[in-house]
Amino acid sequence: MQTEHIFPHHHILGMEQFSRQDIAHILATAESFREISSRSIKKVPVLRGRTVVNLFFEPSTRTRLSFEVAAKRMSADTFNISASTSSTTKGETLIDTARNISAMHPDVIVLRHSSSGAPQLLSRHVQAAVINAGDGAHQHPSQSLLDLMTVQEHKGRLDGLKVAIIGDITHSRVARSNIQGFTTMGSAVHVFGPSTLLPLHIESLGAIRARSLHDALEGADVVMALRIQRERLHDPLLPSLREYAQRFGLSRDPMAWAKEDAIIMHPGPVNRGVEMNPEIADSPRSVILDQVSNGVAVRMALLYLVGNA
Ligand code: CP
Repeated sequence: MQTEHIFPHHHILGMEQFSRQDIAHILATAESFREISSRSIKKVPVLRGRTVVNLFFEPSTRTRLSFEVAAKRMSADTFNISASTSSTTKGETLIDTARNISAMHPDVIVLRHSSSGAPQLLSRHVQAAVINAGDGAHQHPSQSLLDLMTVQEHKGRLDGLKVAIIGDITHSRVARSNIQGFTTMGSAVHVFGPSTLLPLHIESLGAIRARSLHDALEGADVVMALRIQRERLHDPLLPSLREYAQRFGLSRDPMAWAKEDAIIMHPGPVNRGVEMNPEIADSPRSVILDQVSNGVAVRMALLYLVGNA
């Protein structure tokens, strides 16, 4: 919309599918939609007559609501299906569910699922564009794009930044998407967390494994804390949340190692007192609610772009 770049993607499945030009194009498109949310009448007719189905098989506050808000601000018709109200509770498979939804001719299906690869599977069985709203520990591309937009807003650039991601890297789809997204845009991503929650081959994705919390945070421009994904921990990989908070939680002392103007991010939901203290979550350096606001603009851009790809 804002650049000459032609957006070539019908489905949005993961950050690995995007070139640097694709990401710049999505962020520019999101920027152009940002001001719609501050109008008194927050609606434009760009997707009038289009149908968006939100199919959420895992709990969500931010992602589900912001896809619905985004679609409605673009005048699309939206419909929500959750695991507890769908016929999967009666034994229907995801593919059968997808084929039945497809028979009603939606234009976009937004899917959150606990199984990695579920959106890819769905995309092979429907005509509609499929947007991955988080699949297992695999990918969460719209979260990464809103994170990139938030960093660009506060730092004015993405190239040459040090981004520190602290927490449960193993089970985090946000970590995987952000390692790919930020490195594609020229940032260096340093990861740190309990050794049981740091994948052995994380460097193969382009991340730098920090040796300590100090190494990860020293001179960082961006500090992102991640939640312990307790729903994906099948074995006890942590002695206790109290010990985790003491060794890996963000508080005033470790944050002093980062740059003075470092911003603090979290994809939410935040477990206050575990991955960060309330004084950090609510500090002037925290951009957590900007991430949520930018989520609407990014999702407007994605719905618009897949609708016109
Ligand atoms: N960041 C994120 O995915 O939040 P929700 O689980 O509330 O959607």
